[in-house]
Amino acid sequence: MTRAMFGRTAGSAAAGPSVDMSANLGSLAMPSPVLTASGCAASGRELDQFFDITKIGAIVTKSVMLRARSGRPTPRMCETPSGMLNSIGLQGPGIEHFIEEDLAWLTTRGARTVVSIAGESVEEYGKLAQKLRAVEGVDAIEVNISCPNVANRNQVFACDPELAANVILTVRRQSDSQTPIFAKLSPDVTDITEIARSVVRAGVDGLTVINTALGMVIDVETMRPALAGVTGGLSGPAIRPIALRCVWQIRQALPDIPILGVGGIRTGLDALQFILAGANAVSVGTMTFNDPSAPFRVQNELAGALADRGFESVREAISYGHRGADVFGLESEGETEPE
Ligand SMILES: Cc1cc2nc3c(=O)[nH]c(=O)nc-3n(C[C@H](O)[C@H](O)[C@H](O)COP(=O)(O)O)c2cc1C
Repeated sequence: MTRAMFGRTAGSAAAGPSVDMSANLGSLAMPSPVLTASGCAASGRELDQFFDITKIGAIVTKSVMLRARSGRPTPRMCETPSGMLNSIGLQGPGIEHFIEEDLAWLTTRGARTVVSIAGESVEEYGKLAQKLRAVEGVDAIEVNISCPNVANRNQVFACDPELAANVILTVRRQSDSQTPIFAKLSPDVTDITEIARSVVRAGVDGLTVINTALGMVIDVETMRPALAGVTGGLSGPAIRPIALRCVWQIRQALPDIPILGVGGIRTGLDALQFILAGANAVSVGTMTFNDPSAPFRVQNELAGALADRGFESVREAISYGHRGADVFGLESEGETEPE
């Protein structure tokens, strides 16, 4: 039973242990709802110097492609107000090396691992899923569909419901049926619920919401784009309200789909906003560059914030912000309000 009390001061660190922080994303069971975010924690090795990576929900690895890639030309990172732009271009060692080195290390270390994959064609996603089939240590696959479809006019998979569904159908077909598959959605669409419904129909077990938002900066000294790649992905607190809105909208449209919320989370209270909006768990990304212990700290702060509000478990707080949404005229017509 939820015993939420409002108006109390947040953040009492001592409250943590009394809150049940266990979380699920589909069939992926975790002791905590706080994960790393793809591309912001590599494969967890560096972060393990700052906190025990087996104590958070899971490590979400950098998106891996079929072959090794050096990424885009530099400069490929740029600071922005309350955020940063990146156009790394999916630099990485390729799937074989990833399995032999990074995944093997994570497995030995005992960390739960969500493997993020990215492809340039539907077939490439399928091949990646095939390579991961029956490989030890893959607790879930996150499909990064915010990539251009090189085989077809560079249209981004995540921006087209049919293309996005084709990727998911292919990954589903090639994957071990026991492995949960999450689709990572882009905010750069008119109606994110349309894409969400499409990939859910195609068989995803959960949604990661959201990837970076496309942006750019002009360097007024050189009077040229600051990034060599011209545009890049905006992340950090600047995108938190957008990410939160996307989680909220998807939760209203799809009351039962597991959601991993991500975008601009710095503190436990930021994470709490996502949980109240309907996320089952959260990923901490850009903040990790500023504070490498951020995922662990956010986890502890979230436990304190939940206890301060009278919650006995994180589960009780999921979607709590939606109760009475209809009173304010916020509930979409014909859609069921989640618990
Ligand atoms: C430097 C950098 C690299 C990233 N690389 C990936 C990636 O490889 N795959 C992916 O799905 N998302 C990638 N992301 C997006 C993050 O996982 C996350 O969705 C986004 O940054 C929003 O969360 P945040 O504001 O907490 O960083 C990257 C973000 C940053 C800043």
